[in-house]
Amino acid sequence: MAIGTRAKTGKRETAPPVVSGGITGTPYDVESIRSDFPILYREVYGKPLVYLDNAASTQKPRSVIETMDHIYRFEYANVHRGLHYLSNTATQRFEDARESVRRFLNAGSVDEIIFTKNATAAINLVADSFGANLGEGDEIVLSIMEHHSNIVPWHFHRERNGAVLKWAPISDSGELLLDEFERLLTPRTKMVAITHMSNVLGTLVPVHEVIRLAHERGIPVLIDGSQSAVHLSVDVRELDADFYVFTGHKTYGPTGIGVLYAKKAHLDAMRPYQGGGGMIDHVAVDRITYGKTPHKFEAGTPPIVEAIGLGASLNYMMQVGRDNIARHEGELRNYAHAQLAELPWLKIYGNTPDKGAIISFTMDGLHPHDIATVIDRSGVAVRAGHHCAQPLMERLGVTAVCRASFAMYNTKQEVDVLVDALKRAHELFA
Ligand SMILES: Cc1ncc(COP(=O)(O)O)c(C=O)c1O
Repeated sequence: MAIGTRAKTGKRETAPPVVSGGITGTPYDVESIRSDFPILYREVYGKPLVYLDNAASTQKPRSVIETMDHIYRFEYANVHRGLHYLSNTATQRFEDARESVRRFLNAGSVDEIIFTKNATAAINLVADSFGANLGEGDEIVLSIMEHHSNIVPWHFHRERNGAVLKWAPISDSGELLLDEFERLLTPRTKMVAITHMSNVLGTLVPVHEVIRLAHERGIPVLIDGSQSAVHLSVDVRELDADFYVFTGHKTYGPTGIGVLYAKKAHLDAMRPYQGGGGMIDHVAVDRITYGKTPHKFEAGTPPIVEAIGLGASLNYMMQVGRDNIARHEGELRNYAHAQLAELPWLKIYGNTPDKGAIISFTMDGLHPHDIATVIDRSGVAVRAGHHCAQPLMERLGVTAVCRASFAMYNTKQEVDVLVDALKRAHELFA
């Protein structure tokens, strides 16, 4: 068994790293999955940890932790430029990870997979390089639900080059208003940059429709998959996305690694983003030629071990089965939603039928930060704040919300702990 995959039996099958685990397949065995995540067994304040901050970052399975440990112990060297055994081994592992990403997204070629630092860096790359010619009056269409990562790089074009940002609105229940979106598309629209799943509302954006409407007008589309890649099966070829980005630490992988998928034709036409070693073909004192994609966009020593760790996490997700994960999380969301909706003093934001395993809420009489701080004492980790989505907060008429977000390893019992902790917080403080 390759490093980074999930053992079916929990037995040690090869040399280190050990990849533990229970039995995959149906029915979904959440306890077996939990056993792959060591941190889930710790306590906080003497209470079992109930980790519901997954939209911010997910916990790591043993296969990721041990794969990275193994590389540092036995297979570490710089990649791509060595002629020695370790460098070749590390290069092979690094490029294997790129192949895992390709499979994860069903991209046509590894040449379309660029490793970046995170989703933010991937979007900045596209905004800077693909957006190099954006000028006065050129329009970029975003949704009002975007994370700041998919806003600020476009704001740079507004500030520096006179580009115009246009915002697709949502209904009160959090649905993207597709007709209004379509009305924003004009001959001046140079880019649609839109989330696949809101990190606050959980709303799933109908990206097939969005892409079709944009492409009918010859407009390229960037999909921010930072949340959707975690919860759904994604097929970039079927979507026909021009650009699709996600971030490793949310897909059960390490920090410091993200992915830009882009159609090869775009990458070939784009100027490099950053300059340095690894991305050139030839450098002379008076001229320079660049390497081919994907290396053209990976200047400097890449995050080698992080990329390999990401490969392990994606292999793990694919082995558990992304449809299985989506089904399990859907059940958790419905279970949590039903209980929370019964609480008259709690307001849920985002009530679309098509939504991911993210529930944001406020409570009468208690600030979201206080809610999070109080239930933390019961071992429940949730996030409170503006979630890097201030335009959305303004649309919702709030400055902050509390957010519980679920992952493949969460259970209905944990939802019960959350609900009980919220009830106690309301009794005591509201
Ligand atoms: C929808 C969305 N986009 C982008 C990001 C940015 O991810 P990163 O900070 O890893 O670049 C996040 C992270 O919270 C997110 O939820």
